[in-house]
Amino acid sequence: MIKVLFVCLGNICRSPMAEYVFKDMIKKKGLEKQFYIASAATSYEEIGNDMHYGTKDKLDEVGIPYTDHKARRIEKQDYEKYDYIIGMEESNLRNILRIVGKDKDKKLYKLLDFSKNPRDIADPWYTGNFTVTYQDIVEGCTGFLDYLEKENIIK
Ligand code: 4NP
Repeated sequence: MIKVLFVCLGNICRSPMAEYVFKDMIKKKGLEKQFYIASAATSYEEIGNDMHYGTKDKLDEVGIPYTDHKARRIEKQDYEKYDYIIGMEESNLRNILRIVGKDKDKKLYKLLDFSKNPRDIADPWYTGNFTVTYQDIVEGCTGFLDYLEKENIIK
């Protein structure tokens, strides 16, 4: 089982969008039995809250299904539980390290590190642009899936 945790600041915009985009990609490839995919926040701001309506609207627009969501904060134990802990921007990685301690097993990544053009994913909470965020997330998730295939991590 490949366990993937997507992480952003609030766990209501970007990381749940990445969770459902990646779940959809995996399902379309018939690989869902090989994966456990979830998302989490680094802050306490939105704990228990549903996804942002901008994220849900975007997922509805592109026909990607999602289930009930309750924002939760990443915990120290998540570092052992997951194989890939994937932040959306540089500040997420710093905040994750503050919570989990050292990245001793090199599990920490930034989503667009898997793209040909590594960069941060802007926070739509501030930009209001869920379309650019969605495009960036698709680019990152596609790159991540390619990486798992090329490295023969997917059986
Ligand atoms: P996210 O966006 O990190 O992509 O979920 C945010 C959501 C809420 C806040 C910040 C960013 N906030 O400050 O409450």
